[in-house]
Amino acid sequence: MQDNYQIVLGIVGCGDISNVHGNAVLKTGGVRFAACCDLNGERAKKWAETYACERCYTDYMEMLRNEKLHGIVLATWPNQHVEQIRNCAEAGIKNILCQKSLALTGAEAMEIKKIVDEYGIYLMEGFMYRHHPAISKLERLIAAGDTGPVDNVRAVFSDYDAETESAEDLSRNWRQRKECGGGIPYDFACYAVNACGHFSGGLPVRVYASGGVSEKYDIVNRLYGHIEYDNGCVGIIESSKKSSFSQELQISCAHSILNLPLSWTVYEEVTVTETRRSEWAKLHHNTYGIEKNDAYTSEMQNFAGVIRGEESPQMPLHETIVNIFVIEALVKSIYEKKIIDIELPAELKKAFKAK
Ligand SMILES: NC(=O)c1ccc[n+]([C@@H]2O[C@H](COP(=O)([O-])OP(=O)(O)OC[C@H]3O[C@@H](n4cnc5c(N)ncnc54)[C@H](O)[C@@H]3O)[C@@H](O)[C@H]2O)c1
Repeated sequence: MQDNYQIVLGIVGCGDISNVHGNAVLKTGGVRFAACCDLNGERAKKWAETYACERCYTDYMEMLRNEKLHGIVLATWPNQHVEQIRNCAEAGIKNILCQKSLALTGAEAMEIKKIVDEYGIYLMEGFMYRHHPAISKLERLIAAGDTGPVDNVRAVFSDYDAETESAEDLSRNWRQRKECGGGIPYDFACYAVNACGHFSGGLPVRVYASGGVSEKYDIVNRLYGHIEYDNGCVGIIESSKKSSFSQELQISCAHSILNLPLSWTVYEEVTVTETRRSEWAKLHHNTYGIEKNDAYTSEMQNFAGVIRGEESPQMPLHETIVNIFVIEALVKSIYEKKIIDIELPAELKKAFKAK
């Protein structure tokens, strides 16, 4: 690959989240958007104007036929990702940054893995928080060893939804539409599952969850779950659309507790706190100030770095796929009101252990 060549991208979906990718590219040297696509032509046109993108489309298959792209950003709903990844692969796209949640079921996620392997694609799920320096700080504190081994990870992501939109209104937000992959599992709880999996360092073996289903939209809108990992760690998830805004990541280790009070959408400075007991019931706090960072830009820089062959992905695909199995099991547990064992395909376990 040439040094300093410009990476040319396309984007499918010019809705809410597409703006962070547009801004991220404007702030990342050596990358540009040549084409964007939205079913809504006006939205695509405006997006192209805002982010110095050369052409806009209303049919992404036409965009794939006409454009020569190094990569694609999929900023569409979770139910669309499998089909869009397949179409991109068949059109020769080699690099895909796909918004969370990558898929709705483990089977879908494995279908995606098959496409990725068959076509030799690099695919990264858009969990921008994994690119934030606060997360790197937590990773370094644990790797340094003073914390001792991780015992449990508690992750929270909630925000209240008054559910005012009519269930008949098909233009309402995708989060309230079951057919789009709406509901808290694929919108908020996926962050908590991702963090529990990452910091536990183990493979999930079983889950139990309780929660609730919105009567109006027939989507899971409350999810409180336990995840057991094969290394003995436990993940604890709180995620609700019936609770006020809250985010938290707490990693409890043998010798100290690490805490990040605003964990997924961090736009300002934030503080990581490490708490130790000095003697029984006496606590000592170490605080680490983390500078302001745009995690979406860091994510785009990592995506570009991987395309150039200069970096490894901060959000590896095998972790993403394992997490989708966990989310599916948590949802099943809510509906069936029982503990669900997770049976991961042998090839996935092998890929996970190899990394
Ligand atoms: N990482 C984050 O911080 C974050 C935040 C919000 C949303 N998201 C994720 O981003 C994705 C999109 O969410 P959103 O809130 O931006 O949704 P949105 O509804 O605002 O935007 C989606 C856009 O995709 C367009 N679209 C749908 N089907 C299309 C198709 N076949 N071809 C072209 N365009 C199509 C829609 O017209 C819409 O404009 C979801 O998967 C969501 O989970 C991530």
